[in-house]
Amino acid sequence: MARTRFLAFLVVLLSGIGCSRAPQVPKASNQWWQQAVIYQIYPRSFGDTNGDGVGDLNGITQHLDYLRDLGVDGIWITPFYPSPQVDFGYDISDYRNIDPQYGTLADFDRLVAEAGKRHIKVLADLVLNHTSDKHAWFVESRLSRTNPKADWYIWRDGKPNHQPPNNWQSLFGGSSWQYDPQRGQYYYHEFYKEQPDLNWHNPDVQRAMYDVARFWMEHGVSGFRLDAISRLFEDPELRDEPVAEPGTNAYGGPILNEEYTDNLPEVHDVLAELRRVTNAFPGRVLIGETYLPSVEELLKMYGRNNDELQLPMDMQFGMTNRLSVRDFRERLREAETGLGGNMPLLVFDNHDNTRSWNRYGDGVNNMAIAKVLAGLLLTPRDTALVYYGEEIGIENNDPKRKEDVKDPIGRAGWPREKGRDGERTPMQWDGGPGAGFSTAKATWLPLAPGYQTRNVAVEQKDPNSLLNFYKALIRLRRENPALRSGDVELTDENNNNVLAFLRRGEGKTVLVALNFTPGPQEASYHVGVRQATTLLSTFANVGQPADVMRMLLPPYGVWVGELQ
Ligand code: GLC
Ligand code: CA
Repeated sequence: MARTRFLAFLVVLLSGIGCSRAPQVPKASNQWWQQAVIYQIYPRSFGDTNGDGVGDLNGITQHLDYLRDLGVDGIWITPFYPSPQVDFGYDISDYRNIDPQYGTLADFDRLVAEAGKRHIKVLADLVLNHTSDKHAWFVESRLSRTNPKADWYIWRDGKPNHQPPNNWQSLFGGSSWQYDPQRGQYYYHEFYKEQPDLNWHNPDVQRAMYDVARFWMEHGVSGFRLDAISRLFEDPELRDEPVAEPGTNAYGGPILNEEYTDNLPEVHDVLAELRRVTNAFPGRVLIGETYLPSVEELLKMYGRNNDELQLPMDMQFGMTNRLSVRDFRERLREAETGLGGNMPLLVFDNHDNTRSWNRYGDGVNNMAIAKVLAGLLLTPRDTALVYYGEEIGIENNDPKRKEDVKDPIGRAGWPREKGRDGERTPMQWDGGPGAGFSTAKATWLPLAPGYQTRNVAVEQKDPNSLLNFYKALIRLRRENPALRSGDVELTDENNNNVLAFLRRGEGKTVLVALNFTPGPQEASYHVGVRQATTLLSTFANVGQPADVMRMLLPPYGVWVGELQ
């Protein structure tokens, strides 16, 4: 199944990844978001305080001590605004309020204040590409061709015989054009038909959205994750998109090369403007949802003059989907040499893709593999995104029957596409009924299997748990100068089953070695000295000496140590 679902949308441009060395930019002086850990919360599934089976903002506030103890610097909360919930919040009907299911603006302000007391920043999800079809702007826009909001969305006449304007396909299946009988025209929707795309060529649309950004910054948010940011513009000539490959997608439609609907150059003007808007508020950060096929493309999202996104997501690293030393070496090398010295934002898990537990796990060694992934995420030079539950080993739980599916793409694409319910199940706080997430008889999505043993309460008590490994890694990357600020230097490739690299900074050198196999491995590193001291490992004690010329790593062993 579409295991890295959104990557399937990409045009495959992967050939010719060369060693392009981008001009180095000076390191921005210690911004909070550099080398930070940002924890993504899906609010429906984190904590339910009113017993309706759906999470809420107070459920996040309630668990802030947990997040502080884990060591996160910021939380990104996926959309919490009023919404018909067709796309579970990504269809927004009011950009300046809280959906009553999740609470009130006062609850939000309290969450920001309580988070602040624990030195945790709050980031919001900014959905610029589209609104809900129930948003007042769209309700007005569809009334006529002459009303004040008539040009706020992308309206076009169809072709003769009731045909849509062109062949463009929605990412969520079917034509991306929907006929509106009242207006007698088609509107464009990249996602569900209940998510009409805004017309970003209209300066009024731009102004309205920049004001929304200001509104939330005034409510204390420290930045935004920009949803579907590459989708803001479409070819005004509406040229048909060429077929990318034969066959059909999960929804039975053609597989098109999205050259006229994705990543148009105008996106960069908007990003630069948005950066000016957020720069007026100190310490804010712009994160982008940027599924891009190469490091060259990713580099562009930082802006030619470093004036666009501070943290476009690197969606290649964590979506490698197999423990291949060769692939991860290449990804690390690219992040180090191809991003102009900018900070990479590494991601393994999110609310759109099958959890890494299942993508990388072999069904036998999943817990040990999850620790290897934690090492991959938290020891390079990066800002790290952790998706709620990744730190305790939540597994995916795809629906077994079509009638149980909540995410509409899972019904449209069944059985090839089962939707995204599987990666959105409730947080597992304890082993009781409702997993400590909710007291409701039924939670909005069923709990994932394994929650009785893989949950916060159990793992807090076990010194060798995944949760305690995350905590220790996060603490180490904050406290160790080489991990905090050092460069990444790949070691020689003497054992291609072990990924190893050095972090050098502030006069210290740290060696990271990760065994990618279910068997023991021996490796030998010629790094100037032989003696090292264990900082953190899945098999050696802290402080234990090691000989880097003769490293013995047990199956899926993780070792981080300082050279002497
Ligand atoms: C982004 C979100 C996804 C959503 C889509 C439309 O890809 O991550 O969950 O469905 O945009 O807003
Ligand atoms: Ca668009």
